[in-house]
Amino acid sequence: PAETWQTGSAERPLQLANLLELEEAAAKVIPAAGFDYIAGGAEDEWTLRENRAAFGRKQVAQRVLTGKVVTDTATTILGSRIAMPVIIAPMGGHGIAHVSAEAGTARGAAAAGTLHTVSTVATLSLEEAAQAADGPRWFQIYLTNDDGFNAELLQRARAAGYNAIVFTVDVPVGGNRDRDRRNGFVYPAAAAPRNFLDASGRPRAIDRGFKSRLDADSIDFVKRHSGLPVVVKGVAAPDDARLALDAGAAGIQVSNHGGRQLDGTPAAFSVLPAIADAVQGRVPLIFDSGVRRGTDVFKALASGADVVALGRPVLYGLALGGWQGVQSVLQQIERELRTVMQLAGAATVDDIRRTGLIG
Ligand code: FNR
Repeated sequence: PAETWQTGSAERPLQLANLLELEEAAAKVIPAAGFDYIAGGAEDEWTLRENRAAFGRKQVAQRVLTGKVVTDTATTILGSRIAMPVIIAPMGGHGIAHVSAEAGTARGAAAAGTLHTVSTVATLSLEEAAQAADGPRWFQIYLTNDDGFNAELLQRARAAGYNAIVFTVDVPVGGNRDRDRRNGFVYPAAAAPRNFLDASGRPRAIDRGFKSRLDADSIDFVKRHSGLPVVVKGVAAPDDARLALDAGAAGIQVSNHGGRQLDGTPAAFSVLPAIADAVQGRVPLIFDSGVRRGTDVFKALASGADVVALGRPVLYGLALGGWQGVQSVLQQIERELRTVMQLAGAATVDDIRRTGLIG
């Protein structure tokens, strides 16, 4: 019999002061080892902390005499119109946080007018996650050592109506995470990734290991087998951005996986300007790792990002309030962004992109 996993099951909107305080509240709902898996980072968690600290080294100029009034926060990314320049980053195992799993996240994203990226290691199958809500959606792939299975997943994603593939390249090996080793953490049966199960719920006989050798050919493989625009995620250096562009990436997601992979590497926000320089606006830039505040969104967009992706706070919102909790998290950061925009003299998302930072 599958073990029980007593995690979040509430369905309610959240009263939030900010997204940072959510972590403590979520720790009371998600079983401890699952919470550590979500909240933690690699080794000393220096990069995890630095992802936040780096935002503090750039400042937003206050501009209150421009005569501008915030009109809206809508934007377009790879052809999809979204209500705010904030999307949901791919994360595995939403069933660790809430019984509704990715269905709740997809519904919350749609309610807030934005898109959710469904992970390869989602609790629900990519088809189940797609059926949970209307609106744009992206599918994230990790290439396993089984190319037949990889090709099949990409074709399934296209058939299920996903609008783009996010190809994550920063897990050629699992990050060295002390908390998970200490806890002996493995995904609970309640969050076992269904993309790897057959119709009767049994694990399929495939090599689930992730490929270590990733290069331009891997990007080409994902493009050919999906027929969809491919966003290369986990780019943290200008040279990797150039390699991805040359291989035909339709977008670049600047990320250090939320500090979960290479500890001691710079904050994602620190490397964003150099990558934006290398990309020169040829493809859209998505930014993640450490975004918690409207000011962070503003600073990332002012540094060359087109949209940002939000990770952990979404799982915390899901744990505490199901789809409504996810909606609350997105609404909170949008509200904060609007306030920053008004105080910084930016009427639209395009105005933010034209704004310089101080520091
Ligand atoms: C992740 N991330 C991730 N990325 C990915 O491409 N595929 C995945 O399956 C996962 N799984 C995953 C699980 C959990 C619990 C977390 C916290 C993160 C990384 C994710 O997409 C993103 O890069 C970071 O979470 C962004 O940082 P913040 O916002 O969490 O600081």
